[in-house]
Amino acid sequence: MDKANVCKILKIVGFILVVLLLGIVVVVYKLEHHTEVIPTQCKIVLNTENKLEKLQQSCINIPNEKKFDCFPRGIPDQNSCNLRGCCWSPIADFNKQIPSCYYPANFRSYKVTNVTKSIEGETLLLSITRQSVYPKNVKTLLVQISFETKSRLHIIIKDYENERFEPPYPQIPATKKTPETTDYIVLVDDDNFGFAVIRKYTRTVIFDTRNIGGFIFSDQLLQLSALISSKYIYGLGEQTNNFLLNTNWEEIALFNHDTTPKEHTNLYGSHPFYIAMEEGGFSHGVFLLNSNAMDIILQPAPAITYRPIGGILDFYFFLGPSPDNVIQQYTEIIGRPFLPPYWSLGFHLCRWGLKSLKDTMDLWERNRDAGIPFDVIWNDIDYMDNRNDFTISPNFTGLGDFVHQLHNIGMKYVIILDPGIASKLPSNTYPAYDEGIKQNIFIQNSSGLALEGIIWNYPKGTVFPDFTNPRTTSYWLQMLTKLYKEFQYDGLWLDMNEISNFVNGSIYGCDDNVLDNPPYLPKIHGERLNYLTLCMSAKHYIGFHYDVHNLYAFAESMVTNSALSLIRKKRPFVLSRATSPGIGHYAAHWTGDVLSTWDAMKHSVGDIISFNMFGIPMVGADICGYTGNTTKELCQRWFQLGAFYSFSRSHNSIKANDQDATAFGEEFILSTKKALEMRYRFLPYLYTLFWKANQYGESVIRPLFFEFPKDENTYTQNTQFLWGPGLLIIPVLQEKVISITSYFPQSIWFDAYTLESYESNGTYITISAPLDKIPLFLRAGYIIPYQEPSQTVEKSRKNPFGLYVTLNDTLQATGTMYWDDGDTVLSFSDQQYNLLEFNYNGTLMKSSVLTWNYETTMTLDTIYVMGLSNKFSQIFINGQNHSYFNYDSELKVG
Ligand SMILES: *[C@@H]1O[C@H](CO)[C@@H](O)[C@H](O)[C@H]1NC(C)=O
Ligand SMILES: *[C@@H]1O[C@H](CO)[C@@H](O)[C@H](O)[C@H]1NC(C)=O
Ligand SMILES: *[C@@H]1O[C@H](CO)[C@@H](O)[C@H](O)[C@H]1NC(C)=O
Ligand SMILES: *[C@@H]1O[C@H](CO)[C@@H](O)[C@H](O)[C@H]1NC(C)=O
Ligand SMILES: *[C@@H]1O[C@H](CO)[C@@H](O)[C@H](O)[C@H]1NC(C)=O
Ligand SMILES: *[C@@H]1O[C@H](CO)[C@@H](O)[C@H](O)[C@H]1NC(C)=O
Ligand SMILES: *[C@@H]1O[C@H](CO)[C@@H](O)[C@H](O)[C@H]1NC(C)=O
Ligand SMILES: *[C@@H]1O[C@H](CO)[C@@H](O)[C@H](O)[C@H]1NC(C)=O
Ligand SMILES: *[C@@H]1O[C@H](CO)[C@@H](O)[C@H](O)[C@H]1NC(C)=O
Repeated sequence: MDKANVCKILKIVGFILVVLLLGIVVVVYKLEHHTEVIPTQCKIVLNTENKLEKLQQSCINIPNEKKFDCFPRGIPDQNSCNLRGCCWSPIADFNKQIPSCYYPANFRSYKVTNVTKSIEGETLLLSITRQSVYPKNVKTLLVQISFETKSRLHIIIKDYENERFEPPYPQIPATKKTPETTDYIVLVDDDNFGFAVIRKYTRTVIFDTRNIGGFIFSDQLLQLSALISSKYIYGLGEQTNNFLLNTNWEEIALFNHDTTPKEHTNLYGSHPFYIAMEEGGFSHGVFLLNSNAMDIILQPAPAITYRPIGGILDFYFFLGPSPDNVIQQYTEIIGRPFLPPYWSLGFHLCRWGLKSLKDTMDLWERNRDAGIPFDVIWNDIDYMDNRNDFTISPNFTGLGDFVHQLHNIGMKYVIILDPGIASKLPSNTYPAYDEGIKQNIFIQNSSGLALEGIIWNYPKGTVFPDFTNPRTTSYWLQMLTKLYKEFQYDGLWLDMNEISNFVNGSIYGCDDNVLDNPPYLPKIHGERLNYLTLCMSAKHYIGFHYDVHNLYAFAESMVTNSALSLIRKKRPFVLSRATSPGIGHYAAHWTGDVLSTWDAMKHSVGDIISFNMFGIPMVGADICGYTGNTTKELCQRWFQLGAFYSFSRSHNSIKANDQDATAFGEEFILSTKKALEMRYRFLPYLYTLFWKANQYGESVIRPLFFEFPKDENTYTQNTQFLWGPGLLIIPVLQEKVISITSYFPQSIWFDAYTLESYESNGTYITISAPLDKIPLFLRAGYIIPYQEPSQTVEKSRKNPFGLYVTLNDTLQATGTMYWDDGDTVLSFSDQQYNLLEFNYNGTLMKSSVLTWNYETTMTLDTIYVMGLSNKFSQIFINGQNHSYFNYDSELKVG
């Protein structure tokens, strides 16, 4: 892609004559155009002939919700609008949402010139019929429609003649196998190129680009619109939203960016993936594999418009049919989530502003002494000398010994690591910089020298390792190995990797070029691409920052994950703030610098569910919020909710008061302990869910509609969530509330504390939620393994197991349990694991060992059976008559 030239403004002078004659509206264009210095590659070709276009018919029948914006990010008038061949019809819309300038239905931009069909799909050639106003329209496009599997369809649209950027991550495996039959059919319009994807069995049209106009494929703007099957769509992150996406003219910008989460702002990660519910409870997913900055617009038709500013259009369609099938099909191509080490499922304690090892030890000690279930203590940038990576502050002398002490009691230690390396230390004093320069692994500015920005480092000045360069892998391993000799950290926390920068572009700014100043700028925070990040013209091994920006954290996580397994020879734990599709294979995620407010806590529920859809099931928000001071009640409720995040960590900004579990007195400690003990109790179940995510791509945390897809009432629920199919969590998300009226889909539900049953046929039920309790319910039909909690997971892991058996209407229940040593790298491939299956068929409870390769003692000592209609008469375990059992006739629990 060229970069050094700037397209100067094209001045267009024209006037339009509208003649009304006998009711026939004829629009006459008379145009002249005159240009100032247009570099050849920016030349805009206009159709300047006097031209009569009967726009009328194709304009008047378009209802507002189906108007597709022909003048995005601009202020059109009739003149400029008609110049684009579009309809002009300003309407009083104070929110300026309904476009005044929109595409006519028969707007043609490409036509099909050649079709080759085979059993594997179709290949089309498209030829441009109308230039868009954006520079460098691609003349000939290649469209490849591939029937990859029964439920996966792949449609690529790219330049036939020239290679364009395509993201190397995630690496899509070659899992294609031409199916005998497919769940979809594809229809293509030839004369005015467009296509429709249809679910074969229901005839539901799930994605239809035909005859709605506006298809553009230019060098720095690609645009494709489609009508979609329903307004029930989810995903398209990372954004602060209400989980169910708003289709009322919502503009979603995706471009990794470090800012306080708020609505209508591009945040740390970019995931152009959505999942939709169709009529009848069927579900599908659509993924655009494209790493460039983009806008995605949702409108009430319902319809979607994609506007990436580079790359190609590479779409995957997943036909489900269940929502969890969609996630399985998505993670099959982007990469299955990593299996976390067992210790990382415990509670993590962190804060910024622990100024010394002593501060850290004090915090650790008072939480240990209070009996808080607790496994991992963290340090933020405080542990570094002048906040420079791979150094230790004099205030942290003795850190190595402290970490040994932690390891001796089965606890772990995790540190922050920023990508930026200090660039202004005296030469030969800072190997991380000197080696990086020597090995030439830093991202370069457009003059070919290491690009300098400013982050936390002192003296001010920062350069950035280019993790897309294969040489950086050994550099990073070398630096991490040296640090590990100082103290044996157990996991790494990758912050600031959007990339975040305290200056725009670099300390020298950015030179004037088409990458930093594209003809179409997505609606991003800061209104410029290099706002608080690098210059778009900066060079990585695999391309310009313009194309690679959203992939940086992926590359960093991949390299860090592999370095950690080489250094520790144990299962790696990496936490990343920035994310992109497939990163869940290497890293977990936290939702960044959220505010300490009730609103932020409420949004975190939708956020963690969305990230499970993005294939990053290990995710949590900072408990009690990061920015600002919390209140006691907010923090108490947030600890209860946070105990059920798949990644449970309390963290805090340097500017805020303490908010750890001991900060608010005895009653607070007791309720927090109670919530975290419930988490620890269910860890064998949670771990099994993570294993299923790793093996089959199932989600760990689910919204209600994943389990009850035919129940439309579940589609809008965003205040409760499930762990797998069997455990329902209903957090209190409002101040001064001690009872909640919550939707319970049709099932029998058992209170996880009292084992009382609630039968619901799909109704709202009011449950009590006193300040010291988070409501938890077990769903009928499942067998859930548990262990009595101890203060660390290492201790809990050694306790005897129990089972919660919840019988459904037909007195049946099933469950599985995965178990291994919790820390070996790739224990599944090595087959060093045990897999048990449980089944209750009405009379007999059966436990079958499917695999037993991990030698250990597992004792089962308690089984709760809920939903029994009669007392057991006798209980036999392994053929032996046992007489020790209780039956509570009121609860029907044995
Ligand atoms: C269409 O493309 C195929 C394969 O590239 C080629 O063999 C064929 O000649 C083309 N047909 C036309 C009409 O251009
Ligand atoms: C080191 O610790 C002392 C005592 O707690 C504190 O005053 C000082 O600010 C710390 N230094 C840094 C760089 O945090
Ligand atoms: C690249 O960085 C060098 C200093 O390292 C600086 O002199 C030069 O101006 C920078 N180039 C651009 C285009 O910013
Ligand atoms: C960085 O960009 C923002 C937004 O465009 C602008 O307000 C700010 O002045 C810029 N900062 C510098 C140092 O140029
Ligand atoms: C939190 O409260 C303390 C005093 O209790 C105050 O000094 C501090 O500025 C507050 N922090 C924020 C972020 O409001
Ligand atoms: C649920 O049961 C109640 C009372 O038995 C009944 O009025 C209601 O119609 C039922 N709702 C559904 C969705 O079946
Ligand atoms: C009861 O649970 C079993 C096992 O999970 C399941 O196969 C069956 O369909 C369930 N029956 C009802 C009525 O939900
Ligand atoms: C449960 O399984 C046992 C052994 O397979 C069988 O004897 C019994 O009839 C089954 N009970 C039901 C209700 O299916
Ligand atoms: C099992 O033990 C109970 C209680 O001790 C006894 O009543 C019953 O007869 C025993 N059943 C068998 C088959 O031994």
